[in-house]
Amino acid sequence: MKTNRETYIIGNWKMNQDLGAITHFLDEVSDLKTEHHAWIAPQALHIDKCMKLKSEHIQIGAQNCAHEDSGAFTGENSPKTIKELGAHFVIIGHSERRSLYSEGDELLYKKTLKALENELVVVFCIGETLEQREANKVEEVLASQLLNGLRDIDSKNVIIAYEPVWAIGTGVTASPEQAGDAHKFIRGFIDKNLKLEDAQETSILYGGSVKPENIEELMSHEDIDGGLVGGASLKPDSYIMLHKNA
Ligand code: 13P
Repeated sequence: MKTNRETYIIGNWKMNQDLGAITHFLDEVSDLKTEHHAWIAPQALHIDKCMKLKSEHIQIGAQNCAHEDSGAFTGENSPKTIKELGAHFVIIGHSERRSLYSEGDELLYKKTLKALENELVVVFCIGETLEQREANKVEEVLASQLLNGLRDIDSKNVIIAYEPVWAIGTGVTASPEQAGDAHKFIRGFIDKNLKLEDAQETSILYGGSVKPENIEELMSHEDIDGGLVGGASLKPDSYIMLHKNA
């Protein structure tokens, strides 16, 4: 039952927002009243600033992290440092990381382990491309991403985000039925094949063109526990409306 699960509206700001926009945003949401967790993932370079400007009810996270705490990994962001900055969570396996930076299951598994070791909550992203959906491979793809990325991980601190690649930044949202079917499948798969917390307790978020206008319908599905939101999380008014409508 959804009522037992935590619900989230997570803003993934990607490589957007300058310091002026961040200051304005965090000021505007400082008195947000919401039943959902209010989490924001700015660029890693802005985590420190966000920690200083945010109010208590907002949690800050990273959009990615390295698979090791330290070493010769030029340009990477250590999960240990992300934790030291005060961040609460990290997004791992976003489709932009998988496709633009060729991050595969094995690396994502290692990143997840390291992030959890550093007591960061992991928002683990999975999702199929349009080609895979048209070839009726949605369940196969989701199963393989879950099994390879999270195989023996035994933790309460993992949230799943189902983000169909064809819905990200396109304005095309999965219908509540499409998203709901995928979420139901994911929950069943976790139950049978993974060691995460009880599948009924695991929050599964939907991402891909979520807006204040469609969040209510999406979240009315019993298996959808919130949104991982890109474009519509950038402006404070829109982020506040997402919370109000969810
Ligand atoms: P949009 O909400 O802009 O489609 O982005 C979704 C996303 O990638 C969130 O991680």
